[in-house]
Amino acid sequence: MRIVLSETYRDMSRKAAYIVASQVILNPRSVLGLATGDTPLGLYHMLISMHWTGDLDFSGVQTFNLDEYYGLSPENPQSYHYYMTHNFFQHINITEKQWHIPDGTTQNVEEECRRYDKAIDHAGGIDLQILGLGVDGHIGFNEPDGKFERGTHFVELQQSTIEANARFFNSPEEVPRHALSMGIKSIMKAKQILLLASGEAKAEIICQALRGEVLPELPASVLQLHPNTICILDRAAAARLMEEGDERLPQHGLEP
Ligand code: GLP
Repeated sequence: MRIVLSETYRDMSRKAAYIVASQVILNPRSVLGLATGDTPLGLYHMLISMHWTGDLDFSGVQTFNLDEYYGLSPENPQSYHYYMTHNFFQHINITEKQWHIPDGTTQNVEEECRRYDKAIDHAGGIDLQILGLGVDGHIGFNEPDGKFERGTHFVELQQSTIEANARFFNSPEEVPRHALSMGIKSIMKAKQILLLASGEAKAEIICQALRGEVLPELPASVLQLHPNTICILDRAAAARLMEEGDERLPQHGLEP
C-alpha cells in the first residue's frame, strides 16, 4: 500500500482527482467504483471542474457505487442515488445507462445482490475503486463482522454507523437500519483502490486499519492485502500514523 500525505482536505481531494483523471484519460472506457459520504465530495467537485474545462470526458466510463440504503427510493434526498445524481452525475457527461447503484427498493434482495455482482463482472470488473472509511472501520457498508463478506449482500447497520450517518437525516430514527453493499471480495477484486480519509475523527481507525492485524472486525484492514492500493490522508487523519512513525509514510510528506 502506498500512503500519500496531504496538508488539507482540499489537497487530498485534488490529489485523488488527478489519480482518477489519469485513470480515465489512460482508459476512456474505465470502470470506476464510487463511494458516498462527505469524504469524496471534494474529489467529485474537482472532477466536475476538470470536465467543465474540457479536460475530462466520461462518455465511455461506467460506474458502480458501493452501496445503497435499504428502503429508500432514488428520489429520497437521503438515498445514495440522490447523492450521486446531485453531487456528480448530473454535472458530467454520463448517462443513466452508464452508472449503477444497488436498488434499495428491491422486493428480492438476494436477486438484486446477484444481479449487481453480475453487472460488475459483465463490465469487466472495477479498474479503480474509490473508498471512504467509516468511524468503525467499515468500507462500503461492510460492517465489523466475524468474517469477510464476499459479494454484494444485505447488511444490518451498526449503531455507530447509524449515529455517524444521522447528520444527513432529520433524526437518528430516520436512518435506515439496513443497506445493500458490495462485499469485501467485490472490493478486493478491483484492480486499483484509492482510499481517502480526512479529519481527526479518522486518525485512530486509519492507524489501526493500516498498521494492525488484518481482521474482519476491522473491515478496512483487509486493504493491507490488496496489491495496488493508494491511501491519501490529510494531516488530521494521518496524525496517529505520524506519531507511530509508519515506515510507509513518504519522506517528502508533511513536516512533523
Ligand atoms: C457511509 C458510506 C461509506 C463511507 C462512510 C464514511 O457509511 N456507506 O461508503 O465511506 O459513510 O463517510 P464520511 O466520508 O462521511 O466520513
